[in-house]
Amino acid sequence: MYKTHTCGELRAEHAGLIVTLSGWVHRQRDHGGVTFIDLRDRYGIVQIVGDATQPRLAALQQARSEWVIQVTGLIRLRPAGAENPNMQTGQIEIAATDVQVLNPSKPLPFLVNKDEDTDEALRLKYRYLDLRHERMQKNMLLRHNVIKFIRDFLSDRGFLEIETPMLFKTTPEGARDFLVPSRLQPGTFYALPQSPQQLKQLLMVSGFDRYFQIARCFRDEDLRGDRQLEFTQLDLEMSFVHRDDVLAVIENLFTEMVEKVLPNKRLLASPWPRLTYTDSVERYGSDKPDLRFGMELYNLNDILAKSDFMVFQSVLKVGGAIKCIVVPGCSEYTRREVDELTTFVKELGAKGLATLALSAEGVKGTAQKFIKPEEVDAIKSKTGAGTGDLVLFVADKKDIANKCLSALRLLFRDRLKLADPNVLAFAFVLDFPMFEWKEDEKKWDAAHHPFTMPKMEDLPKFETDPSSILSDAYDMVLNGYETASGSIRIHRSDIQQKVFELLGLSNEEIHAKFGHLLEAFEYGAPPHGGIAPGIDRLVMIFADEPNIREVIAFPKNQSGRDMMADAPSEASAIQLGELRLKLDLRKDEEKKP
Ligand code: AMO
Ligand code: AMP
Repeated sequence: MYKTHTCGELRAEHAGLIVTLSGWVHRQRDHGGVTFIDLRDRYGIVQIVGDATQPRLAALQQARSEWVIQVTGLIRLRPAGAENPNMQTGQIEIAATDVQVLNPSKPLPFLVNKDEDTDEALRLKYRYLDLRHERMQKNMLLRHNVIKFIRDFLSDRGFLEIETPMLFKTTPEGARDFLVPSRLQPGTFYALPQSPQQLKQLLMVSGFDRYFQIARCFRDEDLRGDRQLEFTQLDLEMSFVHRDDVLAVIENLFTEMVEKVLPNKRLLASPWPRLTYTDSVERYGSDKPDLRFGMELYNLNDILAKSDFMVFQSVLKVGGAIKCIVVPGCSEYTRREVDELTTFVKELGAKGLATLALSAEGVKGTAQKFIKPEEVDAIKSKTGAGTGDLVLFVADKKDIANKCLSALRLLFRDRLKLADPNVLAFAFVLDFPMFEWKEDEKKWDAAHHPFTMPKMEDLPKFETDPSSILSDAYDMVLNGYETASGSIRIHRSDIQQKVFELLGLSNEEIHAKFGHLLEAFEYGAPPHGGIAPGIDRLVMIFADEPNIREVIAFPKNQSGRDMMADAPSEASAIQLGELRLKLDLRKDEEKKP
């Protein structure tokens, strides 16, 4: 028997027991005659003591960091004063009677028994060692608990988990597909699913009215801190539901999860706040607002309509917006600090940043000479700005003003520590636009996906003003991240046809891409809708991690490489031959005639 107990479970009440433990040497210390080893497994750490000059205990001294050893010994209370309140097992120690080396270890490329800033490339190359670190062990455990909670919660409420294929057909989630060449049908390709979107809708046609899946999704897009090439969704779909039925399931699921799985976290509000897309963008400059703190954006077009400031006048003339945020307590910012903020917004596309500093000695700032005292008063009463505050203005096209001030809002969130890291500000953003205009391609695109139901009352606008059509699409946002998207789906083929037409798809294209789905909808498709929370992003936020790589066991690096296995890698000539593939590795410029 390798072990009778785990290292982490032993407590004072076990004193007197003889136990056998197996694990890794976390730390070893020699105190002349007595050797101490901290023995670690994934359940915790326990102190082993013994006199290494005894033949059966010689391994205590031989063992080095990360060797795998087996120890038998007597659990005893530590001598008074030697207890360690920082260790769960700190009341006891094991007086070893027998120690065996099960497997020695080479010195590790980095320490796993200390918090230290190891180079990320090294961590990813030796990911299996990195995962030994307490932080990563905690993250994996949390991820497991979150997924287990989801499975139990939904199963208890009649949802069925159904697996859908990885080898499938292109799904219109808006990213690039990963293609898999078919050997059996040369020249053809499967696409890995960007999400199980079509399949879950087909399951509704089959009558599985409450479906979910912990689903792997694949998207060939540029990686960011909250994006990976493959990631995991809680994919969920329901029949005979309206928007609020879907939202209620999600709100109840995560509300109960916080209570049961995340004891250190609390909800900002219950019931969760709901904002329309328009409101969210107007007040926070973003469709994924962090609601843990205020600092809302204000539109000052009315107050500054008659401003003498040329910049403001010209922006108003072309239908733009003058917007501001109020930064608490920063009226004494220096010229250099303001210049840094100006550079920051210019990089995001703004032409400049005007400031009003409400200092105790009077109003200062770059906009002071352009803004009349009565305008200052009106701004103060609209925004609640007071002495000591710094007002930042961006005047521009509405979306640029929103983007810049939203980014500044988040910058000050971090700089002034305005958001409590233990608060979870879940909220729903509702009523997204149905379409967005793609200026480069001069065409309409679905803002969510083309199966999303437009608002019934907006149907006449297909002919007149597609940009103002709203949809029954919704997002779950959390602390400044989009953590889920979903919608009520189109189940009527006439509406689906209208959408495809507006998107500029020909009948042939529609048939080739979605023929199977549209045909299915002719065989009695129930009204249905769903949502898909991103598990990686949620666990990242729950674990207070800055990046989803920290909550994925084997992630890709920023350039999409698996540093450990060194993937992607070349295929052999035989493999390519079987797939009837020839490579053309010339650079783009070499291909031009
Ligand atoms: P959507 O494309 O918005 O919707 O994705 C839903 C959620 O998945 C997560 N997510 C990602 N997480 C990590 N890396 C990525 N590259 C990535 N892309 C998306 C986000 C996002 O909110 N089928 C629809 C859902 C539906 O309509 O039911 C869909 O996939 O948290
Ligand atoms: P100028 O008159 O161009 O020197 O600008 C005076 C102040 O207004 C400077 O602080 C600029 O950064 C700022 N500013 C210029 N353009 C804008 C704009 N579009 N929105 C807000 N502030 C601006």
